[in-house]
Amino acid sequence: MNHRHFITFEGMDGAGKSTQIARTADWLRSRGHAVLLTREPGGTPLGESLRALLLHEAMHAETEALLMFAARREHLAQVIEPALARGEWVLCDRFTDASFAYQGGGRGLTAERLGILEQWVHGDLKPGLTLLFDLPCEVAARRLATTGSDPDRFEREQSAFFNRVRAAYLERARAEPARIRVLDASRPADGVSNELEEILSNYCY
Ligand code: TYD
Repeated sequence: MNHRHFITFEGMDGAGKSTQIARTADWLRSRGHAVLLTREPGGTPLGESLRALLLHEAMHAETEALLMFAARREHLAQVIEPALARGEWVLCDRFTDASFAYQGGGRGLTAERLGILEQWVHGDLKPGLTLLFDLPCEVAARRLATTGSDPDRFEREQSAFFNRVRAAYLERARAEPARIRVLDASRPADGVSNELEEILSNYCY
């Protein structure tokens, strides 16, 4: 089941997701909605511990996928499902589409394998809306280079990896156009926000 109050944000590092998530939260709150902001991997104490391992420890690609979904199981049980049950809007910085893009497209795990984990961990529960902030990998890399922070295990990958991640995201968007909306994130943030507001106005009734 696609849950209307469950909105996820996807895209490559450097796409400007964080700014747009904050603006979405403001937009919903200004209309009187209760909003819960969270992120993956993470969102719970255990999930944040797993995040630290995932971002900094070398591991097998399948271990990485299993830990992503383990963190997600905890996140759903402790945070996402209870908030949806209370009638809140849940805005999640990355969710299962990221696993298909990074562990699938990036690392080469099959969609069948990942589909088994998806089914196990969240059955039919899907986001009602997924906003995919898309941009060419070179633009993302240039933006990341200016942040000055230490790159994590994913950010240190080569451009071929990010090209595969982007292609996998876009393929999922083509397969589920009603749920996944693609926004051109190579524009300045205000242009992206305007398009985002238009999507939200049509979606949040
Ligand atoms: P993110 O929080 O967006 O990174 P940052 O805080 O650096 O902006 O995501 C952390 C990394 O985790 C990101 O490079 C993508 C990766 N990731 C996966 O590979 N698979 C997943 O299922 C998820 C949720 C994230």
